[in-house]
Amino acid sequence: MQDEKIKILMVCLGNICRSPTAEGVFRAQAQQRALDHHFEIDSAGTGTWHIGETPDSRACKAAAGRNIDLSTQRARTIDPQDFHDFDYIFAMDANNLRDLQSMEPDNPRARTVLFLTWPDRADGRDGYLEVPDPFYSGPEGFELVLDLVESASQEILDHIEREHKLS
Ligand code: 4NP
Repeated sequence: MQDEKIKILMVCLGNICRSPTAEGVFRAQAQQRALDHHFEIDSAGTGTWHIGETPDSRACKAAAGRNIDLSTQRARTIDPQDFHDFDYIFAMDANNLRDLQSMEPDNPRARTVLFLTWPDRADGRDGYLEVPDPFYSGPEGFELVLDLVESASQEILDHIEREHKLS
């Protein structure tokens, strides 16, 4: 068993809808596989509007419908140090990825990639290359976020489990 944790950072724009959902789903799936002790999972936003806030109530409600609790999370902004502290930084959409790449330091520890296409899904998932921003949508937008995030998280966990020989 490796002693150092695998550090995962989920990133979206506001850090109140998509990336908190991805953090909660990934943690729950790691727990279901009894692999959670291998991971540190966090999320952040590229924007500053919602710092310190709990996730959007609609995101919390949708996640709670799948037995995932987002209520203890608090929004924060991406920090340049994150590129040195984390192993994987998953961008929810292409704008997030571009913003992250524009602030990426030399010699980062983190691999910064698009969540729905990594590691080998150039065609994305269910026709989506990006997790659509649900902020101006109805409840169905939050269910779609959960569907996409659940599907991507399972495959990413499969891949990391193999790559890091976790079991
Ligand atoms: P998120 O959604 O990036 O998935 O957290 C958004 C939340 C807030 C805003 C935009 C997107 N906003 O403009 O305040």
